[in-house]
Amino acid sequence: MDLNGKVIVITGGAQGLGLATALRLSPKQPHIALIDTNTETLAEAKQLIEDAGATASSWICNVTQEDEVDQTFNQIAAQTGRLDAVVNNAGITRDSLFLKVKDGVVEKRMSLGQWQQVIDVNLTGTFLCGRAAATEMVKAGNGGCIINISSISRHGNVGQTNYTATKAGVAAMAVTWSKELARQGIRCAAIAPGYIGTEMVLTMKSEALEKIAAGIPVKRLGQPDEIAKTVEFILKNDYVNGRVIEVDGGLRI
Ligand code: CAA
Repeated sequence: MDLNGKVIVITGGAQGLGLATALRLSPKQPHIALIDTNTETLAEAKQLIEDAGATASSWICNVTQEDEVDQTFNQIAAQTGRLDAVVNNAGITRDSLFLKVKDGVVEKRMSLGQWQQVIDVNLTGTFLCGRAAATEMVKAGNGGCIINISSISRHGNVGQTNYTATKAGVAAMAVTWSKELARQGIRCAAIAPGYIGTEMVLTMKSEALEKIAAGIPVKRLGQPDEIAKTVEFILKNDYVNGRVIEVDGGLRI
C-alpha cells in the first residue's frame, strides 16, 4: 500500500504507541483519523501530526460502544471518501494477581471489574473497530489493511489474567479476519510488542519492571517508534497477511 492520500484510523491515537505510529506515518502524507476519549490530548496529537506532514482528524469515541464505533467509522469514511487501514491500538491494563495468597490464605482476587474493563476495551473494542473498519473498506471497494496490537503477554504473564486473554484474542482475531477478508482485498495482521517505553509500562511497579528489563536479551526497553516502524512495514508490504509479528528484543516470558 502506498500511504500517500490513504485514510488510516488509529484507535488510542492520542498517546503512546498510537501517537508514535501516527507520527511515523505522517511524512508519507496520508489522512490520519485519531480515535480516543480525551478532547485535550486529541487536539495536541492532531497538531503534532499535521506538523509532521499528514492531514488529520480527531474523533471522540468509546471503542466499547457498538453504535458510537459504527457511527464514527461511517463518518470518517463519509468525510474522506475512503477508509484504507485501521490500527487497533486502544488498550488498558488493570494488573492484579489472579489470587493473592499469603500463608495459605487467599488475601485478594482479580475482581470481575478488573477482568471486564480490560475485556471491554481491548477485546470487544478491537472486535467492534475491526468490524466497523472492514464494513467501510468493503463499501469503499479499495481493499485495506487491519492491524491489531497484541502483546508479548499473550503467552501468559503473571498479574495479567485479563490482559493476556485479550492480547491472545486480538492476535487470533487478526488471523481469522485475514482468512475471511482476503477475498475482499483486505489484509489483516497483528504486532506483539514486548516491553516498550510507554506510560503503560513505565508506570509499572519499579521492582516488577526492573526484573523484566534484566531479562531482555538486548538489555533495554523498546522504543515506541520501533513498533510504529513495524506498522509501516505491514501497511506497505502487500504480501504480509495473517501473521503476528513479534517485536520484543528477544524476550521470552
Ligand atoms: N512470578 C511468580 N510469582 C509472582 C510473581 C512472578 N513474576 N510476581 C509476584 N508473584 C507472587 C509472589 O508470591 C509475590 O510474593 P513474594 O514476591 O513476596 O513472594 C506475590 O505474588 C505478591 O506479589 P506483589 O507484592 O507484587 O503483589 P501485588 O498485589 O502488590 O502486585 C501485581 C501484583 C500488580 C501483579 C504486580 O506484581 C505487578 O505489577 N506485576 C507486573 C505485571 C506486568 O508484567 N505487567 C505488565 C504491564 S506493561 C504491559 O502490559 C504492556 C505489554 O504489553 C507488555
